[in-house]
Amino acid sequence: MGKVALITGITGQDGSYLAELLMSKDYEVHGVVRRSSSFATGRIDHLRRGNESGGRPLELHYGDMGDATGLRGIIEEVRPDEVYNLAAQSHVRISFDQPEYTADVVGLGVLRLLEAIRDHNQRHNRAIRFYQAGSSEMFGKAEEVPQRETTRFHPRSPYACAKAYAHSQTVNYREAYGLFAVNGILFNHESPRRGENFVTRKITRSAGRIKVGLQDKLLLGNLEAKRDWGFAGDYVEAMWLMMQQDESGDYVIATGETHSVREFLEIAFDRLKLDWNKYVAIDPRHLRPAEVDILCGDASKARKLLGWKPRVSFEQLVAMMVDADLELANRELRSLGR
Ligand code: NAP
Ligand code: GDD
Repeated sequence: MGKVALITGITGQDGSYLAELLMSKDYEVHGVVRRSSSFATGRIDHLRRGNESGGRPLELHYGDMGDATGLRGIIEEVRPDEVYNLAAQSHVRISFDQPEYTADVVGLGVLRLLEAIRDHNQRHNRAIRFYQAGSSEMFGKAEEVPQRETTRFHPRSPYACAKAYAHSQTVNYREAYGLFAVNGILFNHESPRRGENFVTRKITRSAGRIKVGLQDKLLLGNLEAKRDWGFAGDYVEAMWLMMQQDESGDYVIATGETHSVREFLEIAFDRLKLDWNKYVAIDPRHLRPAEVDILCGDASKARKLLGWKPRVSFEQLVAMMVDADLELANRELRSLGR
């Protein structure tokens, strides 16, 4: 019998890659989706028909990180072996507009899930394992470069503060109740499925549309910030590996390379033979009240204990995203009959 996994945030970028990975490993995969007036399942619709080898299709359950009763009900019904908590209001700048909501979903949401799992494990004598989607944003105004598991957190946004709370609670449940609880401290990871208001996708989506004549301007914020960007498909493998170890722990997942937003922009536009200077303008609305200047991770612990390393390079990642978005822009053009 394959294992049963429950993924919150399954409709997001990482949720879709993780569900694909687990289904390819013969897991029975369940996902939590929140009710919306429009469908948000575009990234996972292909999985609802089952996998190529005839495995069980993905099963979805309505739930919300703000609703403890609902989360408990889902845990009782699904009886998962592994829970991957990927749900979040994950946009850093928007967390400054919605600090309380972000703290509730990203911070307290984790506590709700941990309590539901602790209670279930105790009452049914089970050992559900828990993965928390931690973030390099917790390092914030970091004291050292590169950042590793031992680097002190200095969160710089409501989002990062909430993730730091979630991280601590995950460690607390491991130590207090012996729960197998893992914190993945993941640095930025991107893909053609990345949300369109994160900077990498915003750049590649705009480059594609500019190339085919559907757009003539791209408004951005701080071009000097540096991030350690990897490929989301590589990072979900690390999540799974962390959950297969004998003991639970915390792991940094990163490429160890850092690049500025400006560099990303240059490489992306160059690929389409466009001069970005002609199209990009700075819009202060995209600046943040407090910025994280540089993130660069040291994933040697993961390399050593999990045998994990990234496969896709920075240049390959940019190329993959630009090519996918050029194709998307061409489809958009055709749908307009042009
Ligand atoms: P994403 O694309 O923004 O997906 C977030 C997911 O959370 C979506 O499925 C969203 O549902 C769901 N969600 C939001 N609010 C919810 C709520 N109140 N109740 C239930 N579900 C809710 O994020 P991602 O890039 O896949 O990232 C996955 C996780 O890793 C997040 O926790 C993020 O903070 C963390 N993380 C991401 C990165 C990165 O670089 N991508 C790095 C470090 C950590 P809808 O589709 O309905 O909006
Ligand atoms: N979103 C956005 N939009 N960012 C911009 C823009 C813009 O127009 N212009 C410049 N930036 C800069 C931001 O100020 C930031 O320094 C950098 O680009 C990256 O921004 P995002 O792509 O929004 O990602 P993030 O680093 O803030 O957060 C992402 O990575 C975290 C892990 O470090 C998100 O995925 C978080 O959920 C994740 O935890």
